[in-house]
Amino acid sequence: MADDTRFHHGSVPADARPIIHMEDITKHFGNVIALNGVTFDVTPGECHCLLGDNGAGKSTFIKTMSGVHKPNSGQIFFEGKPLSFDSPREAMEAGIATVFQDLAMIPLMSVTRNFFMGREPTKGKGLTRRFDIDRANEITMEEMRRMGINLRAPDQAVGTLSGGERQTVAIARAVYFGAKVLILDEPTSALGVRQTSNVLSTIDRVRKQGVGVVFISHNVRHAMAVGDRFTVLNRGQTLGTAVRDEITATELQDLMAGGQELAQLEGSLGGTV
Ligand SMILES: Nc1ncnc2c1ncn2[C@@H]1O[C@H](COP(=O)(O)OP(=O)(O)OP(=O)(O)O)[C@@H](O)[C@H]1O
Ligand SMILES: [Mg+2]
Repeated sequence: MADDTRFHHGSVPADARPIIHMEDITKHFGNVIALNGVTFDVTPGECHCLLGDNGAGKSTFIKTMSGVHKPNSGQIFFEGKPLSFDSPREAMEAGIATVFQDLAMIPLMSVTRNFFMGREPTKGKGLTRRFDIDRANEITMEEMRRMGINLRAPDQAVGTLSGGERQTVAIARAVYFGAKVLILDEPTSALGVRQTSNVLSTIDRVRKQGVGVVFISHNVRHAMAVGDRFTVLNRGQTLGTAVRDEITATELQDLMAGGQELAQLEGSLGGTV
C-alpha cells in the first residue's frame, strides 16, 4: 500500500510552489516519539488533508507548523526560504492561521466583536479616536456573506450561532486578516450533517481565493469531499501522500486504519465495517 506507485512522499504538483514545506520533521516529548520524519507541504489554492488515527501525531505536526512546538530535527521552508518560527505569533504574522475545534471566541459578545478581537477599525484622531462600529459591522456582514452565511444582525451574540457557523466566523476572520495557510484541526468532528456541509463549502470557498488549506480529519468522507491531496500519518510517520482521483475512499480508509486491522474486524464481525 504505502509502496504503491500512487503514493509519492512529499510530492508537489509541478506548477505550484509550496507556501510552506516541512521536511523530515521529528518531535519527541521525553520518551515519546510523536513525529518521526514527517514531510508535508501545501500550495496556494489547494486543500491538503492530514489524516490519521488518534495519537498519530496530527496535532503535534500542525503545532510544529504554527510555531507552538520547535521540531527536534527537520527543516521548515516558508515561500522557499528556510525559516524557524519562535512563537505562534511569528507564524501568524507570516500568514499561518490555525482554527482549533475549541474556538477562541466569546459567546456573549457579538459576531463583529469576535471577528475583530481588538483589531477593530477606528475613526477620528487623537482623543476622539474610537472604534468604528458601523464599518466593523459592515465588514463582518460582508465577509460572512462571502462565506455563504447571512447573519440576522452583526450584533448577534456568537453564542447564538451554530457550531458550523462559529467555525465559519473563525475561518472568515483568519482569511480577512491575511492568512496564506489556514490550518483546520478537526473542524467537522463535532458537527451534524448540515453544519458539516456548510463548513466543507466554506473550505472550498477559501481554497478558491488562493489560500492553502491544511485540513485535519479522522473522517475520510469529509476529507474526500474537499481534499486535493491526502497524507496519512501513522505513529508519527507518513504512510504516503495520495492525489485526488487516484485513490478511493475505501483505499484511504484502509490506509488510515492500517488495512489489516480493518479486514480482521470485518472478519470477526462477519460483515462490512
Ligand atoms: N505535550 C505533550 N507531551 C507529551 N506527549 C505528547 C504531547 N503532545 C502530544 N503527545 C503525544 O504525542 C503523540 C501524538 O499526539 P497528537 O496529539 O499529535 O495526536 P493526534 O494525531 O492529534 O491525535 P487525535 O486524533 O487524538 O487528536 C501521542 O502519543 C501523545 O500522547
Ligand atoms: Mg489531535
